[in-house]
Amino acid sequence: MKILFTRSIQSPMLSMIPEDYEVVMWKEENSVMPRNELLKEVADADAIFTNVTDLLDKEFFEHAKKLKIVSLMAVGFDNVDIQEATKCGIPVGHTPDVLSEAVAELALTLMFACARRVVESMQFIKDNKWESWGPYLFAGQKISGAKLGIIGMGRIGKILAQQAKALNMDVVYYNRRRNPQTETELDVEYRDLESLLKESDYVVMLAPASQETYHMMGYEQFAFMKPTSVFVNVSRGSTVNEKDLYKILSEKKIFAAGLDVFEEEPIRKEHPLLTLDNLIAVPHIGSGTQETRDKMVEIALKNMLKGLNGERLLHTVNEEVYE
Ligand code: GLV
Repeated sequence: MKILFTRSIQSPMLSMIPEDYEVVMWKEENSVMPRNELLKEVADADAIFTNVTDLLDKEFFEHAKKLKIVSLMAVGFDNVDIQEATKCGIPVGHTPDVLSEAVAELALTLMFACARRVVESMQFIKDNKWESWGPYLFAGQKISGAKLGIIGMGRIGKILAQQAKALNMDVVYYNRRRNPQTETELDVEYRDLESLLKESDYVVMLAPASQETYHMMGYEQFAFMKPTSVFVNVSRGSTVNEKDLYKILSEKKIFAAGLDVFEEEPIRKEHPLLTLDNLIAVPHIGSGTQETRDKMVEIALKNMLKGLNGERLLHTVNEEVYE
């Protein structure tokens, strides 16, 4: 069996892999396996251990003649042509649940950092501009008791709602489908998108990338938000029209935004968004705690080995492949 790792994974858990399997791994720690290399290596691979940075499209599956399993070290799978995988009879595994707390925590981190202008404040000190305590120096927004609007009430949304409740926040949500059980269990209320945007002090985007959610937040939607409100995106960059976000932030029509994800990753230094004081950007680190990443590696490895043995995965994206 040949297993292809498209990124360098250094973990004692790799010992799970039977010794007689051939392991081909991209060695450079901070770079992505080039496309031509990926297509070449996958041609005779039985399994692929992959993540958000590889595009597994129709062309990829045409090259993957022997592939039995796609194992994503990620929860999101918008980079994989799922229909094509299913057509080829290939199960696609992913790593939900174990990362929900970490991603929700990053959403809170960005909410706090934006609300209290943490990055701007530190820059102020570094620039040696701090002369004295100021009555309204870097006055920001309060979080406790404020209203949180969650767009996309899935696994991560539910955890975020619970965390927000501990901060005494009111929580409303918008979702494709209303979920009365969640409303009762978590004491959250459903709103249509426009109402959510108008009411909320914090808006957190958690909807996955799809045709339906593409540029779901554009100028019109941002304009519904309050000038004191904060927008956070920890899902996928494609859900936000960045040009419109830039416009609304520079017009100060919302207070600030915190982004973990971008329309094009990596975002470059020259990007207009990065010139703004009321924008905080981090490099797609939502699930990035040591413990969470270890768990993701473990589940992705188990999914991969199960797939190679023809067993059902721990978490399969395309359950229909088994029919
Ligand atoms: C990261 O973005 C993931 O989908 O796990």
